[in-house]
Amino acid sequence: MCGIVAAVADRNIVPILLEGLRKLEYRGYDSAGLALIDASGLHRLRSVGRVIELTAQVEESHVAGETGIAHTRWATHGVPCERNAHPHISAGLAVVHNGIIENHESLRGRLKALGYQFTSDTDTEVVAHLIAHELKTAPDFLSAVRQAIAQLQGAYAIAVLRESDPSRLVVAREGAPLLLGLSDDACYAASDASALVQVTRRMVYLDNGDCAELMRGSYRITRVNGMPVERPESESQLSAEAIELGNYRHYMQKEIFEQPVALANTLEMLGSARSIQPGIFGAESETILGKVQQVLIIACGTSYHAGLVARYWLESIAGIPCSVEVASEYRYRDSVPNPQTLVVTISQSGETADTLAALQHAKALGMQHTLCICNVPESSLVRENSLRFITRAGPEIGVASTKAFTTQLAALYLLTLVLAKVRQRLDGLEEAAELYAVRHLPMAVAKILELEPQIREWAECFSMKQHALFLGRGRHYPIAMEGALKLKEISYIHAEAYPAGELKHGPLALVDRDMPVIAVAPNDALLEKLKSNLQEVRARGGELYVFADADSEMKESNGIQVLQLPEHYGALSALLHVVPLQLLAYHVALVRGTDVDKPRNLAKSVTVE
Ligand code: G6P
Repeated sequence: MCGIVAAVADRNIVPILLEGLRKLEYRGYDSAGLALIDASGLHRLRSVGRVIELTAQVEESHVAGETGIAHTRWATHGVPCERNAHPHISAGLAVVHNGIIENHESLRGRLKALGYQFTSDTDTEVVAHLIAHELKTAPDFLSAVRQAIAQLQGAYAIAVLRESDPSRLVVAREGAPLLLGLSDDACYAASDASALVQVTRRMVYLDNGDCAELMRGSYRITRVNGMPVERPESESQLSAEAIELGNYRHYMQKEIFEQPVALANTLEMLGSARSIQPGIFGAESETILGKVQQVLIIACGTSYHAGLVARYWLESIAGIPCSVEVASEYRYRDSVPNPQTLVVTISQSGETADTLAALQHAKALGMQHTLCICNVPESSLVRENSLRFITRAGPEIGVASTKAFTTQLAALYLLTLVLAKVRQRLDGLEEAAELYAVRHLPMAVAKILELEPQIREWAECFSMKQHALFLGRGRHYPIAMEGALKLKEISYIHAEAYPAGELKHGPLALVDRDMPVIAVAPNDALLEKLKSNLQEVRARGGELYVFADADSEMKESNGIQVLQLPEHYGALSALLHVVPLQLLAYHVALVRGTDVDKPRNLAKSVTVE
């Protein structure tokens, strides 16, 4: 979703802003823009489409300056067009914004009555006019921004520059991510660290309600009420190579193939011990996990699917009741809280607005035992939880989540083992065997990736289809859901997932020769039942694509294609079975020629409700 980069330095910052925007492209956007100040005043350039188009405009106009703000916009209020692209300007001020101003209509009415002219349909433009209005009475620039944001409702990260004050920027955050980057002769701000590692690794993460003034080589942070605050400086560990594409064609392809390494890195903390330490989830975890009576998992999108798989593990292996909720629903529904619940939030980015709000909601209901599983150590979600597990998938750039999902599953399996252990449901021998299986995961995934040529062939057959049905049973039903999500996200083929036993209660009506049916069919206790469900499909002329595994004795025949995964992996097989589905979606999208890494209308980091 929208990305912000801002810089104040003693040299031309235009290349830094453009490179920063390029690094934020993965978040999802439909237009881009920048504003800067040079000797002749304030300049603004905006374009619909990719950052490369903005770059071309910049080159043509030869603009340069030492203070500037830049933005990628993911449309919420107003269609994607140049008029709605940020920055928005009012009386020599320029503003970029990520988030949603919920009271924009009433503010717009008030500002219009005061004579301010609106040129866009965005909620952001009210922020520009509001700050301009406050500047008429405020003692200085920072105070004017503070007075303005005190009137805003909703979520925002903003960066503001002022033509008459060219050596200063003001930024603020409430509910949307923003961090500062520091160097001796410059100061930067951005939505995430990836935009700034090109110039510095020294980062300061702002808290909600912080407002900061940035100057060349110095900064100060205050709360909205003006009280000065200090925030710790940290060294970003993000490696520049980790966010480069390298020899891959797409980030999604790179990230699918990085899964063995991502898993190995995530599991590194286990060391070589034959027993698992509860402390991997945080210092207090043994005490807390020993007393919780149930687990509530909250997440969105792919992370929600990881939670659904974990429910099967937690109930069958750890023997603890578990429910899984979509964050955007949970936060608004009346539920019955149990204070002895472990609330587990799962998020790749740690910035998903609904997940963060759902966690606050759970805490407000009196559930204080919270744990997050997250891929970004500096994210808002991690800072909101005392128990935490950081997956070490590395930066995930492709909108369609892949390596974040499998590392989340690995983390959730470890959580299951720890809970089983503290609840005395795992003896020493079982624990050692489980850890052996977990440690073998990177190797097992690497073997599955070798199946790519066959999956590519299947993708050719799929590419002309308009619909697809994914079937699974038990813990592989969420894997079927994830396979369907991957396919629809990046290939735009309509795909639905069903627990195979539900087929005859509705979806069977859709099955004909134009509807491919993809079955996740591991060799487990439900295989024979699944085979019967698949016969129901064949009898209606449906074409079956079956992902089986070792010894499952599924035979290819007319209308039934079978791909055999190299080994059966017991409880962990869900983690392996998702990999061919990721590859299938990727290759179908390639054949259809869609924008794999930035599918239309979607954003990587969903920082608005
Ligand atoms: C967006 C992304 C998905 C992701 C979901 C949840 O929809 O496109 O890939 O699964 O957000 O994001 P999170 O960062 O909380 O896991």
